[in-house]
Amino acid sequence: METSKSRYKNYCKPKLADLLTALKLNVEAVSASGSYLRTKNDRNVLDLVSGFGSAILGHNPPQLVEEAVSALTQNIPICAQGTMREEAGKLSEKLNSLLSNGAEYYSNLSNSGAEAVEAAVKHAYKVRLEVISREYERLSRILNNIYYQIEHLEGTVLLPGDKDLIDFRDDLDEYNLAQFESFQYQPVMASFKGGYHGKTTSSIKLTFNKSFRESFEGLSAIKTEYIDPNHPEHIKELCDAQVCIFYYPVLKSVDGQHVVELKPVKITKLIGVIFETIMGEGGIKPLPENTLNWLAENHKPLAIPYIIDEIQTGCGRTGAIYHHQKTALKIIKAEYILLSKALGGGITKVGATLIRSDIYESDFGILHTSTFGEDDLSARVARKALDLLTENEGERLAEITTKGAYLHNSLKELGLRYPELIKDVRGCGLMLGVEFTSLEDRSPFFRSAGRQGVLSLLVASYLLHYHDIRVLAPISTMLKGNPGKQRQSIIRIQPSLCIEYSEVDRFVAALLEVCEIITSNNEFCLLAHLFDQTLGASVRKGCKQLPALWPLKTNEKNIDARLGFVVPPINVETLSGYYFPSFSHYTWDKKRFTQWWNSLSRFLEPVHVKSEYVTSNAFTVEVNLVFVPYLPEYINRYKADRELSREMRDKVQDAVTLARELGDDNIPVSMVGLGAYTSIITNNGQTVNDYEVPITTGNAYTTGLTLQGIFYAAQLKGIDLAKAKVAVVGATGNIGLVLGQILLPRVGELLLVGSGASGSQQRLGMARSLCLTDLLKSIHQEQLAGIGFENTELQGAGYAYYEALIEGQGDEFDQLRMAIEGGDISRKTTALFDELVPNLNFSNSTDLNNLLNFDIVVLATNSEKEDLITPAMVKPGAIVCCASVPSNLSSEFKNNQSYLAFEGGLAQLPENSEIDFYGMPKEGLAYGCLAETMVLGFDGQNHSFSKGLLTSEQVFHIMQLAADHGFSLGSLKFGDDVLHLIEE
Ligand code: F0G
Repeated sequence: METSKSRYKNYCKPKLADLLTALKLNVEAVSASGSYLRTKNDRNVLDLVSGFGSAILGHNPPQLVEEAVSALTQNIPICAQGTMREEAGKLSEKLNSLLSNGAEYYSNLSNSGAEAVEAAVKHAYKVRLEVISREYERLSRILNNIYYQIEHLEGTVLLPGDKDLIDFRDDLDEYNLAQFESFQYQPVMASFKGGYHGKTTSSIKLTFNKSFRESFEGLSAIKTEYIDPNHPEHIKELCDAQVCIFYYPVLKSVDGQHVVELKPVKITKLIGVIFETIMGEGGIKPLPENTLNWLAENHKPLAIPYIIDEIQTGCGRTGAIYHHQKTALKIIKAEYILLSKALGGGITKVGATLIRSDIYESDFGILHTSTFGEDDLSARVARKALDLLTENEGERLAEITTKGAYLHNSLKELGLRYPELIKDVRGCGLMLGVEFTSLEDRSPFFRSAGRQGVLSLLVASYLLHYHDIRVLAPISTMLKGNPGKQRQSIIRIQPSLCIEYSEVDRFVAALLEVCEIITSNNEFCLLAHLFDQTLGASVRKGCKQLPALWPLKTNEKNIDARLGFVVPPINVETLSGYYFPSFSHYTWDKKRFTQWWNSLSRFLEPVHVKSEYVTSNAFTVEVNLVFVPYLPEYINRYKADRELSREMRDKVQDAVTLARELGDDNIPVSMVGLGAYTSIITNNGQTVNDYEVPITTGNAYTTGLTLQGIFYAAQLKGIDLAKAKVAVVGATGNIGLVLGQILLPRVGELLLVGSGASGSQQRLGMARSLCLTDLLKSIHQEQLAGIGFENTELQGAGYAYYEALIEGQGDEFDQLRMAIEGGDISRKTTALFDELVPNLNFSNSTDLNNLLNFDIVVLATNSEKEDLITPAMVKPGAIVCCASVPSNLSSEFKNNQSYLAFEGGLAQLPENSEIDFYGMPKEGLAYGCLAETMVLGFDGQNHSFSKGLLTSEQVFHIMQLAADHGFSLGSLKFGDDVLHLIEE
């Protein structure tokens, strides 16, 4: 299927366009007719979306096109606002004639569904406002009358609260006014959980999905109470609880004494109950039978207006003009009935708010108007659409019912065949939905796609690409929401009545193909087209059946503490290995796959992928791995982009929240670690809200382990660190900087290497200055010795410089010494130090070709490059230690005896514990950042640890804690190989 980057992307909804592009749903339709959309590249797509249900009569039904064309050629008065609109009147009459509840309605015509909702809400508010304000005024009059009555009475009058008369009157009036205003400024509506009623500022308040609402809540004062569709009786409770309680005074005579008593008047603030009989956008969910019965029975006793939203269910979609009249609600005379979508016959934009005539506020037609409401063209086309649906004794409605039943049954049969995939098939007429299970027993990608609702979009993409069939999911599926919440994967199926039985069969067969692919855990067959690998029918239909790998939980244990750890995939291999195990059975293009994943990842939510258990000293911690989808190259590419970097930070925040929510009251999650690149995204954890759960980047222990690794390797190689030339690549990063600070006093020469990117020189200057500051501070505090390293020969040049300084002569030396001794170490001091000790072997560079002279090269970069350092760049015999994840060491180092090249920052877990997760080191090893999270968990830390700028004190502290809890330096590794080293 041809896809395009359309103008739409640039000028309308860029993010939605990106999502459609990532899913290859970005087709451009150039014409539409009946059940089909014709695309730019001449493919005929069977459209089961039908304009979100609007095109029940098919796209551009000829009779309606003819009607519209003839209306236009007759020069009908489209813009005759402010005249008697005859066509609007006729449409209204028609709408009335199709109702069989015996009531009469006025129609407010508008341009969309949301506007139809808005009109009903405004009207309902006005009606109740009238009632409440009239009551308030009546009671004010009573109060005033009594006030004057008492004023003219002989003798004393006992007033409530022993107040004097004026205070009594003013306080009561103020109280009643406040009650009135509590309604006026916050009316209450009841809506159903799962309901959708539009997105204008008031209708959005009635729409259940929080993701739609939360950015706009404050714009409208309506307070909505969402009712569980299975418990309509809560409406009654709500009605009784949400009340204005006014008081009015009654003057009495008790034993010859005048007494004033207060009597209450209660009026509910509930202005209406809005509901769809089948929730459409909420996932094609019919209201339960019992609920419909309850609503019918309680309509009168409740005395609260019902607003029946038939915007999606109405005008034929379910085989009736008014779907509620096919249910128990047929006996009631609802106050409001709303129509839109199919009312315009798929051609014109029109909404109708039917308002029962006996409650109609006559001012409303003046207070609520809209330029294009009631235009003759829309009204005429709408009336014709209703004519078509109802003519010949409603044969088209009957056709919808029969075809709907056939489709429904076929889907149900499919559901029976795949009970582990299809949870439910539901709906009415040609408004049907298929809900997938959450696929808990499938392999990880299906599991998370099912859980996040993305699955339905992927299925839509597959059906479009291979079968030219268009379905969609509810739009809520496309939004980021509460990350801990499970969302349903639902396909909405809303064909037009033009659909043929053979087309139904074709669709069901295509869906069966998808079910087979998911059952086979074969992500490749479902997704390959997304990265431009179109598979032949035989490959898809005979897709390889594979086992479900990587279950969420294994060997669950009794635990003492719980942790979260946020992990991004460190490279494409890790991503495909874990998420897409089926890929290993096919050949695929890594570059294209990466491009695709990078376009999709921003739309995926964090997901809990695995729980692992580690024990030390009879104390077990559960580590919950939470996956964030970004690949390192995506993060590097967009970390300076304003919008995308904010999105990334938000996603990491969501991952932290998700991790926290995995805890319970007994064992909450006590610490969340930010693995690998997630600390970069969050500016070393500084943008993460850590007031609900403490966090750590794990950088301290990664640094400590890197140092331990270097010292150990130097010992093996017989390199004397105090004389060694050491280069730190990535020295301006959080880890690189502290490595520099700790190494400076311990080595013969130190080179700080920066990336050469813009600002790198300046950052290197800062890094150098910070290293010197640290050096001077530690010299002064005499902390150089005994910092936890066994190798006491590592004191290095620092002492020598210090001695030179102490022994130095002259004012400047004295000045410097005094500054250091006074702890007053500023950049100025370090600059002076630099000047006075010119022979300090401590320099900066942004050129990786300067590494050739160095005995030890240590890397801690943010670069995702897998061959940043090659053997040709370093001196034979050198130690090359890489703490970057992913590693920056070229594979040419592998088995190359001339170098000791290894990946630093790996810890050995205590007591033979293992972390079994694809892309993580095996044999009881763990990345330093993960190990630090665990150490803090074992130690019961309840505040954030490595966050923001790392310090050498934190490094020494965590190393001590790690040792206390049985963690140690892991064996040195290169790739998957453990290096077996012998002392030289
Ligand atoms: N009420 C219902 C029941 C709806 O399904 C919709 C729209 C509206 C109100 C709002 O109408 O979009 O014309 O302002 N539903 C669309 C859907 C968005 O996906 O089915 P609108």
